Amino acid sequence: MIINSIKIISVVGARPNFMKIAPFIKAIEEFNSKSSDIYIDHTLVHTGQHYDEKMSGSFFKELQIDQPDVNLEIGSGTHAEQVGNTMIAFEKVLKNLKPHWVVVVGDVNATCACSITTKKEGIRLAHIEAGLRSYDIAMPEEINRLVTDRLSDLLLTPDSISSNNLQDEGVDERKIKLVGNIMIDTLETNITEAKKLSTESVVKSSMLAEQQIPESVMNGSQFGLVTMHRPSNVDNPKVLREIVTFLAEEATSKLDLIWPIHPRTKNIIAKIGLLEDILKNPKLLLTEPLGYLQMLKLNMSADIMLTDSGGLQEECCVLGTPCLTMRWNTERPITLKEHGGASVLVGNSVSNIRREFLRCIAQDRKPKRPKLWDGNTAKRIVNCIVSEHLQTEEVCFEFEEESKFKAV
Ligand code: UD1
Repeated sequence: MIINSIKIISVVGARPNFMKIAPFIKAIEEFNSKSSDIYIDHTLVHTGQHYDEKMSGSFFKELQIDQPDVNLEIGSGTHAEQVGNTMIAFEKVLKNLKPHWVVVVGDVNATCACSITTKKEGIRLAHIEAGLRSYDIAMPEEINRLVTDRLSDLLLTPDSISSNNLQDEGVDERKIKLVGNIMIDTLETNITEAKKLSTESVVKSSMLAEQQIPESVMNGSQFGLVTMHRPSNVDNPKVLREIVTFLAEEATSKLDLIWPIHPRTKNIIAKIGLLEDILKNPKLLLTEPLGYLQMLKLNMSADIMLTDSGGLQEECCVLGTPCLTMRWNTERPITLKEHGGASVLVGNSVSNIRREFLRCIAQDRKPKRPKLWDGNTAKRIVNCIVSEHLQTEEVCFEFEEESKFKAV
């Protein structure tokens, strides 16, 4: 007999959120199928920050997530527009559904906007991937992380460095739960399927132009992988031009490169007049943004990754792909070489990128799995939320009883 129903809304907004929510939803379904006295009533809200088939729709199909119950259809815009419009729309959802908990993931604008709205409605908030810090307040994601963690009632961290960051900020230790990295649950679920793909089919199905595919890419034997979208790398034309020139003219003399290009980056490269030339370069293959399985296949086969994405940094760590992180700092230090990982910070200085590129292409894979990056993080998260809910419900009940007693 069900004696307790817990109403949870979880929120996704942008591409890196989908791989974090898929295992959470699966773990809720598993929990419901096993539990006879507690039922989790779950609603998935998509803010619509990312809306393309390639940036959003395809992930729902691939990761077998049901279509969102609610889509706020916020779309592109300035940061204030995205955050403001999300808050206005999400407030209506909260007033209507009145959940016990809202669960947010990661650090995108949707995460921050929904966290603020949740707490203003007096609802409990859980943050998956809490405690990451780059200590670089110029990053929009760092602002989103700080706001979300400050407001959260349950801070679910991927590693002990993140838990320590929160303790250092004075967060009540009882709210911090080290649960591991939920992205790795998704990697574990999909790795067998991804292995079945061929590099050639991945590239052929998503190339931006009719380029001749080099032999080394056709047979998946030797290639590097590039992704780039952070404002620090792509918004300044001088910085972007230098990096692109290095990739197109120098790096490709050592290794053919595949570059699944983010829409934001593609727009800027076109604006500064470099797109035509790159599309003619036979050793630098531009593709549309890839699906999850396609990207995983390329990552596990690549000799090197050059990226400014946090999620890819983590996946490289577990797969052992040598990774040049094109940033001056990272909120994920656990993935760095000094912590046993596969990643080196190179910023956006071409001399750093060149030096580490030459060093890393000669390097073997060195997989590393930090503690609790074991594929079972989502189950731990569901257990944490349920047990926290039951404890706080009990406290509320006792408190009500006491105040009734006092009132009499
Ligand atoms: C966002 C996240 C970032 C995450 C990244 C992954 C914030 C602050 N940033 O950055 O943390 O790593 O997503 O992709 O939330 N666009 C499309 N189609 C889409 C979505 C976007 O064409 O489906 C284009 C639009 O021109 C848009 C631009 O990409 O203006 C940037 O999108 P936006 O959501 O503002 O930020 P991202 O750079 O993607």
